[in-house]
Amino acid sequence: MKKIFIYYSHSGNGEIVKDYFKENGYDIRKVESKRKLPKSFFCQMMVGGMLAGFNHKAKLKDFNYDIKDYDEVVIGSPIWNGKLACPTNTLLSKLDLKDKKLTFVLYSGGGRAPKAIKKINKKYKADIIELKEPKKYKENLEKLTIIK
Ligand SMILES: Cc1cc2nc3c(=O)[nH]c(=O)nc-3n(C[C@H](O)[C@H](O)[C@H](O)COP(=O)(O)O)c2cc1C
Repeated sequence: MKKIFIYYSHSGNGEIVKDYFKENGYDIRKVESKRKLPKSFFCQMMVGGMLAGFNHKAKLKDFNYDIKDYDEVVIGSPIWNGKLACPTNTLLSKLDLKDKKLTFVLYSGGGRAPKAIKKINKKYKADIIELKEPKKYKENLEKLTIIK
């Protein structure tokens, strides 16, 4: 089984999740947005939060979307305004995920993302794991061990 963890991270929580998958033999690819979020938290909420609310697709830096060699794909995404982060929307619009063993790992401030889960469940047959701020609560990474 070839497996890959593909993720976006703005403020480092996704990096902790990435470390877990790297240690567990996954290939790693990181999505980068062409535009960074503003510096202040308030402006981040205004810009990123609003755009995510509209399911906006961010423009991404060059990325290899070819995952045909992989049997298992794990997507890691922050939650913005209850929804998937804008770079994740772009990623999902370009990846061919059919016939993959698929898991989503959603990291957020509150550790719950019902709106994002609803959207994922509409389109994909996937396991979904929610994590509250993995940078701060490393013990929650234990939840990832259900992925077999
Ligand atoms: C623009 C923006 C919107 C956010 N909206 C939410 C939210 O609606 N609910 C929540 O629990 N956390 C929210 N957060 C917090 C992030 O989801 C959380 O810090 C996550 O772990 C960030 O992942 P990262 O550090 O890999 O970027 C938001 C963060 C940003 C920057």
